[in-house]
Amino acid sequence: MRSFSLIFKQFSRSVLLIVGFAFWGFSAAYAQTDAAKGEAIFKSKCTACHKIDQVLTGPALGPQLTEETDDKYLIKWIQNNQALIAAKNPKALAIFNKFEQKGMTTFTDLSDGDVGNVITFIRADWARIQKEKTQPPAGGAVAEEKGPSELVVWGLVGIIVIAFIVILVLNKVVGTLERLVSKNKDLVIEEEPVVAEADKNVLLKKILKNKKLVFFILVCGTIAMGSWGWVTLWNTNVHTGYQPVQPIKYSHELHAGTMKIDCQYCHSGAYKSKNASIPSLNVCMNCHKVVKTESPEIHKIYDALGYDPKTQKYDSTAAKPIQWVRVHNLPDLAYFNHSQHVKVAGIKCQACHGPVQTMKEVYQYSPLTMKWCIQCHKRTEVNGKGNAYYDSILAAHDKIKKGEKVTAAVLGGIECGKCHY
Ligand code: HEC
Ligand code: HEC
Ligand code: HEC
Ligand code: HEC
Ligand code: HEC
Ligand code: HEC
Repeated sequence: MRSFSLIFKQFSRSVLLIVGFAFWGFSAAYAQTDAAKGEAIFKSKCTACHKIDQVLTGPALGPQLTEETDDKYLIKWIQNNQALIAAKNPKALAIFNKFEQKGMTTFTDLSDGDVGNVITFIRADWARIQKEKTQPPAGGAVAEEKGPSELVVWGLVGIIVIAFIVILVLNKVVGTLERLVSKNKDLVIEEEPVVAEADKNVLLKKILKNKKLVFFILVCGTIAMGSWGWVTLWNTNVHTGYQPVQPIKYSHELHAGTMKIDCQYCHSGAYKSKNASIPSLNVCMNCHKVVKTESPEIHKIYDALGYDPKTQKYDSTAAKPIQWVRVHNLPDLAYFNHSQHVKVAGIKCQACHGPVQTMKEVYQYSPLTMKWCIQCHKRTEVNGKGNAYYDSILAAHDKIKKGEKVTAAVLGGIECGKCHY
């Protein structure tokens, strides 16, 4: 019996060690690296105008930061590019003119360290993108790197909590067994099963009596349930990643990506009205009357229009419109206008819809929550140049607030009635 309890003690000690190591490794792996901090800043402050590998409103930052290696200059530029331009810094003037003097937001709230982290992230991500280009991963689809998934994190936390409980219980068991062993040394063998029976109840009672243990279990339970509830409630009705199967295998990757057809060619509404609108099949027919006429997918277009490719005639009585499945859908209580964002504010479709030109099937890229709208309104500077409406406002305000920053929020972009009917 002694050796039995010794084994138990050793066992629980090694469990403790393993858990200790797991916890250490886990926290080390999860501790935010500089690049991860930089990524967070980049995603929240820079993605509206920059991509790592593509020119958006501003230059593609991967190649740009490979060419420009003077980090001191870059930090100054990112914190306050307008000061550099005003001081006629030759590098700053060159890039400013190259991008038609579009002008970049200033980020005086970012410390040197923050900006350093962003630069580290951009260079690391550019290296990753180039590596993936030279050796695409097997299986074709490039899995997005997202770090440890939530499931893994919660799994690990669960394992750690369970392991602690196991240790506590084992310790109790060892203590009870040892006491029993010393008490029952003289007991006759026949009585053993009865003792074992009593032993179980004693153990249960002991556990329940141990207020610390009960408290610990309750706290763990409350934390787990609370976190689960928090995450679930915040994500109710958020459809990020929603990707329905469409009736025709139409690919944006092919048409907007490879063939570089302008978004405006099909979604012209986005520039002049509230809705971007889905193009009518007649737009497809501009090409598909002659392109890929043998494809069964293209025949779906013909059938929907009642078009007979042999006689090249339309029979409107046979037409049955394609029912595209809507991907993005705000609740009716919110008002969103495309032209205000695309035409007036000059925001690229990709800032809200993601890299549509690489999507075989469109999915919802942004959460479309109220928080998402508001956050962008709070940080996006309004570009008033060459806009009659703003010219008039600016003229009026010029005397009072010369050169002061104006955000959508200032113009009423966070007034309830602007977004809600
Ligand atoms: C409102 C749009 C906008 C935002 C937001 C923005 N930029 Fe820019 N950025 C530009 C434009 C436009 C240029 C090109 C120069 C110009 O026109 O002023 C540029 C240029 C740059 C350059 C090139 C400087 C050089 O001399 O090589 C860097 C680096 C840069 N941005 C980094 C950032 C970082 C980092 C962030 C986020 C913290 C950011 N930008 C956010 C629009 C933006
Ligand atoms: C050749 C025509 C064509 C071009 C060019 C095109 N699209 Fe589309 N787009 C469609 C069609 C058809 C659909 C509906 C089917 C679907 O969802 O795939 C669609 C759907 C979408 C949707 C989802 C709409 C919803 O249901 O919520 C978005 C977002 C979108 N396009 C954005 C873009 C962007 C951004 C570009 C430019 C990079 C672009 N499209 C270029 C034809 C086009
Ligand atoms: C500017 C010309 C053009 C327009 C407009 C256009 N397409 Fe295409 N589409 C093409 C070309 C070219 C290909 C074939 C590429 C290839 O050779 O595989 C193609 C391929 C396709 C295919 C794949 C066919 C297959 O079997 O491989 C589908 C489906 C398709 N288009 C649907 C549409 C739909 C739906 C629209 C309207 C929303 C549309 N296209 C508008 C030029 C166009
Ligand atoms: C500021 C963010 C933002 C920008 C920029 C933006 N969209 Fe949208 N888009 C949305 C939202 C939000 C919806 C959902 C609207 C709704 O349900 O009323 C949407 C819906 C759509 C739809 C579905 C049909 C419709 O009209 O509602 C298409 C297609 C679309 N966008 C294409 C585009 C294209 C093409 C561009 C660029 C020219 C673009 N969007 C720019 C936010 C944006
Ligand atoms: C990528 C940044 C961005 C996102 C995301 C965004 N907006 Fe905006 N929004 C702007 C900017 C910039 C303006 C100012 C445009 C201008 O110059 O008038 C604006 C203006 C507006 C206005 C007009 C305010 C006024 O002055 O009358 C409304 C309404 C609006 N947005 C609604 C929405 C809603 C609803 C959403 C979310 C579904 C949304 N926006 C998401 C950038 C954004
Ligand atoms: C920039 C646009 C914008 C502004 C400004 C705005 N909202 Fe919203 N609001 C939204 C969008 C988009 C939704 C729907 C998405 C969601 O539920 O998060 C929403 C949802 C809501 C809802 C939830 C309704 C429901 O039943 O789901 C309430 C309540 C609300 N807003 C109240 C307000 C109030 C009060 C204000 C003013 C202080 C305000 N909003 C200002 C865009 C906006």
